[in-house]
Amino acid sequence: MNISVIGTGYVGLVTGAGLAAKKHNVICADKSSEKIATLQSGGLPIWEEGLEEILKEAKAQQAISFTTNITQAIQKSDLILIAVGTPSLADGDADLSQIYNIGSLIARESTTDKIVVLKSTVPPGTGDNLKTLLNESSNHGVTFEVVSNPEFLRQGSAVSDFFYPSRIIVGCSTDEARKAMEQLYKSFPCTIQFCDRKSAETIKYAANSFLAMKISYMNMLATLSEELGADINEIKEGIGSDPRIGSDFLNPGLGFGGSCLPKDIKAFMKTGANHAVPMTLLQEVLKINEKQPDLIINKLKSFLGTLKGATISIMGLSFKPNTDDLRDAPSIKLVHHLLEEGATVRAYDPLVHVYPLDEVSLFPDPYTTVEDSDAVIFVTEWDEFKSLNWKSIVSNLRLPLILDGRNMFELKEMKKIADQHDLIYCSIGR
Ligand code: UGA
Repeated sequence: MNISVIGTGYVGLVTGAGLAAKKHNVICADKSSEKIATLQSGGLPIWEEGLEEILKEAKAQQAISFTTNITQAIQKSDLILIAVGTPSLADGDADLSQIYNIGSLIARESTTDKIVVLKSTVPPGTGDNLKTLLNESSNHGVTFEVVSNPEFLRQGSAVSDFFYPSRIIVGCSTDEARKAMEQLYKSFPCTIQFCDRKSAETIKYAANSFLAMKISYMNMLATLSEELGADINEIKEGIGSDPRIGSDFLNPGLGFGGSCLPKDIKAFMKTGANHAVPMTLLQEVLKINEKQPDLIINKLKSFLGTLKGATISIMGLSFKPNTDDLRDAPSIKLVHHLLEEGATVRAYDPLVHVYPLDEVSLFPDPYTTVEDSDAVIFVTEWDEFKSLNWKSIVSNLRLPLILDGRNMFELKEMKKIADQHDLIYCSIGR
């Protein structure tokens, strides 16, 4: 099939490269000449495990090309995948301007019938509106079908998620579109759930909101657990072994961040409000998430008294490991709070080398970071932190206080290390 993918962010690029690896002819189009030039010259505008290899192979097979000429990409394809951004507006709603701009262009420039596939995360009803826009402003008497095909890729494991999805959701209203989507995904090892467009769009928001809900629930339980003197890890294991609950996404910590969960939950609440359905449950999920960094701040204060004049080291700045993405990263909320309280902040992250808050000094490794610090907070659970030399860490610290904001270290192990090196170790909910 001739396919174009419009938008070369992490969803568009991984999808384009993956479909090319599955032997489709793919044109990746983006208005950013900088991104396209990077891709044409063999570079990558984003880092994702395994992406470089599959792109190289697809290029060698001449299965993929890159262009800023979106009109030409549209005209050359039967299937057009839209994977442009839908950022949050001030009221939490999704900004759909990029989707509708591409829609107008497709309507204007198409000279043959097209199937337009929405990969971007959009509020329920967007696909229907896009279909109306396309067919009403069609210039050459062509017909359009719109398919909602939401994406469940996780940053950091997007390539393997692409090839081994848990399910594929397809919302469409014609047999022709259904057949085209069956053809597109014919060699994928999972079921395809066909449904109407609005249900498909809702599934995406509902899935991300449910994941966020699991995290906030665990964070609430972690706070209770501390008061009770219980261990949140035991609670996690005990409830997670019930298959009706499931053991994934039950890790308490500093809260969820990233470019998807916080944005999608707000947009889903807005969808509810627009239909007079108050999504108060999700409001609580967000509230718990906002307050989660306070837990660490309070622990710090209980040891240090005041944070004024204290030096605090942060380990890990990105919203999760294996990415340099800082969008809605919990580190930002935490650091703001520390600075407001008068602390000096030093930080290290394996991939983040530029930070939006100038007051934060970045260092090239954990050991120089912690020099003369009163406390160290582990904010992102990078694997490399698991093999730290605690002796060197402790000798560099002014006060050996370690706060583990992701429960990334074994409690028993840390108790031993604490005894050996005379340090204080605190984690979340245990
Ligand atoms: C999320 C979803 O997991 C994907 O399925 C979805 O496709 C994607 O959003 C999207 O809509 O594009 P992602 O944002 O890459 O993926 O990150 P997650 O792995 O979901 O993590 C989100 C946040 O939750 C991170 O800050 C992480 O630290 C936090 N988290 C995750 C917890 O605090 N506890 C957990 O148990 C799991």
